[in-house]
Amino acid sequence: MKSIVILISGRGSNMEALLQARLPARTAAVISNRPEAAGLALASSRGVTTEVVDHRAFEAREQFDAALTERIERARPDLVVLAGFMRVLGDEFVRHFEGRLLNIHPSLLPLFPGLHTHRRALAAGVRVHGCSVHFVTTHLDGGPIVIQAAVPVLLGDSEETLAARVLAQEHRIYPQAVRWFLEGRLHFGADGRLVVDAPEDAGGFLIAPALSQAEAND
Ligand code: GRF
Repeated sequence: MKSIVILISGRGSNMEALLQARLPARTAAVISNRPEAAGLALASSRGVTTEVVDHRAFEAREQFDAALTERIERARPDLVVLAGFMRVLGDEFVRHFEGRLLNIHPSLLPLFPGLHTHRRALAAGVRVHGCSVHFVTTHLDGGPIVIQAAVPVLLGDSEETLAARVLAQEHRIYPQAVRWFLEGRLHFGADGRLVVDAPEDAGGFLIAPALSQAEAND
């Protein structure tokens, strides 16, 4: 059976969605760079091995990246899944795992790479926002996109209400993307573009949930 390693830094709700998804893989470990990450207890309660590689214990980022690489490789995973992992990883780390390193980002990339995506979406006045699962490359939040979900931005949205609407979709698309990877459905064409060999009933690549009546009247 294939195996994955999940990296977290905090709450761990995407990690939980992955653990609940009955993926065709064993979660070999959940690793956090923060000992206080709430997701660690969640993972333990589901019987998953947890580890901490505290970035504050290392003088240089390269040392942290090397320790993290060593810890991950002990589990020999087929895929490394960044789920709210809030450290920028160095080029060497990224190259080492390239092609088997996925991330979820809370915006419709290439819009709003980096931090505070919901605040920036509100400030920009966009009417559609969302989230993206992408392969990680040395270009920050710029790797090939696997799947995206779009949500409306509603009148009266705050950063919190918008974040919650996006997060609900993150929990749908991340397990889907990981499943596609594990099933060998993600391929790179000769032009370097990502091709998703998904079954026609997979729900498509854009998830645009209909507005509920309450939201429509907002
Ligand atoms: C998510 O919004 C994810 O897209 C971003 O950080 C947040 C992590 O949330 N990278 P959680 O820890 O998965 O609950």
